[in-house]
Amino acid sequence: TAVQLALTQVVGAYAIAVLDRNNPDQIVAARKGSPLVVGIGEDEYFLGSDATPIIEFTNRVTYIGDEEIVTIRRGEALKIRTITNIEKTPRIQKLEMTLSQLEKGGYPHFMLKEIFEQPHTLSDCMRGRVNVEGNNITLAGFIDNREKFLNARRIIITACGTSWHAAQIGMYAIEEYARIPVEVEYSSEFRYRKPVIHKDDIVIAISQSGETADTLAAVELAKNAGAFIFGICNVVGSSIPRNTHSGCYTHVGPEIGVASTKAFTAQVAVLTMLAILIGKEKGTVSREEYLNLIRELNLIPEKVAEILKKSGQIEQYAKTFTYAGNCIYLGRGYNFPVALEGALKLKEISYIHAEGYPAAEMKHGPIALVSHEMPVIVIATQSDTYEKVTSNIQEIKARKGRIISVVTEGDQVVRGLSDFSVEVPETLPCLTPLLSVIPLQLLAYHIAVVKGCDVDQPRNLAKSVTVE
Ligand code: G6P
Repeated sequence: TAVQLALTQVVGAYAIAVLDRNNPDQIVAARKGSPLVVGIGEDEYFLGSDATPIIEFTNRVTYIGDEEIVTIRRGEALKIRTITNIEKTPRIQKLEMTLSQLEKGGYPHFMLKEIFEQPHTLSDCMRGRVNVEGNNITLAGFIDNREKFLNARRIIITACGTSWHAAQIGMYAIEEYARIPVEVEYSSEFRYRKPVIHKDDIVIAISQSGETADTLAAVELAKNAGAFIFGICNVVGSSIPRNTHSGCYTHVGPEIGVASTKAFTAQVAVLTMLAILIGKEKGTVSREEYLNLIRELNLIPEKVAEILKKSGQIEQYAKTFTYAGNCIYLGRGYNFPVALEGALKLKEISYIHAEGYPAAEMKHGPIALVSHEMPVIVIATQSDTYEKVTSNIQEIKARKGRIISVVTEGDQVVRGLSDFSVEVPETLPCLTPLLSVIPLQLLAYHIAVVKGCDVDQPRNLAKSVTVE
């Protein structure tokens, strides 16, 4: 009762566990805004903000709802009440996560393990969605809400960090294939800037953790405005999927490294599948195009595995890179968000300042920074802007910039202009991000290791940002 009364006066988000010196066999815990999960073991309970650290002891958990108070007493069943004193029945779930998914499995860091898991995580993400016969894509969250997607006036995608970069790629794919206008919003801006939201808008919220406070608030805002909310999340049962109308899990297993890698590629895969599916149902994607996209999607996991074989080569190059204090990443079209993501990876874990830019924007400012001390990383895979990107590279060369490029297998021109190149297999433009981001993840990883940085837990960063 004391906790209940106190919490009625607490303002803002919290997750709290209270102990009473005179009642050592009892813990009272509550939450609002921040996540709280209780693990139920044999004669023992666990409290955490996420199920990941609990799974070592038990796979039975219950997620505590907003403004709920849980009472845990030795030898007794859990009791849940709301702050306003309404009794609730605990809903106990069995998680499918295993301990081996949470261990490094021989890799020196979780981040490297997760980068190398991507051929499998991409297959897992597409399993049951892109059929092996290569003629169909199914997404349950789409089928159940087909009319809403087909009649959507606009799609707004809201996310933070790496998920926001996936959203940008989703915008290119949805506009190209589904021909629905898309806007991409930082959740933290969207929630406060009084956005115009219509009832026939679809809001897609992307979040690996499903707990990012700003994205959760953006979901609430859009829901109150009457929009249909679709979540793309990784952590099953987390707050965002519980607060959306429908959605699609990425199914990559727990991501432990603070810098997101395998969750990003799966988010891009889900958005691409969604774009193609809407396009096919609307008739904006022809049957031939549809089959070709599916065929290429099915080949992505093995192409990612091919790129991973170049990790040693990238590691060697990373050793010559530590002099850099600043870097620019350039890309165009589908590879512009990849440039942003590559730059984010580098700054997150190696503390080297890096910026991503659309390649053609370089002449409007960043070119002033180019010198022999400044590495420029260019994603220059084959596309209709290849020639333009090539001329951007020549401009950098003329100013003695050092060039690292990601190119399509067999490329001659850009390779010839670069100090170091990594080749990726050929694919369709909309699928290139799934390949071109892999060398950038590896480059950031190896540079951070050479610099002696704590790759899995970079300074000042958190895996789940459950506060504003
Ligand atoms: C934090 C993490 C990032 C992540 C971002 C959004 O900043 O360090 O890796 O991209 O939050 O997280 P979410 O769980 O919503 O995708």
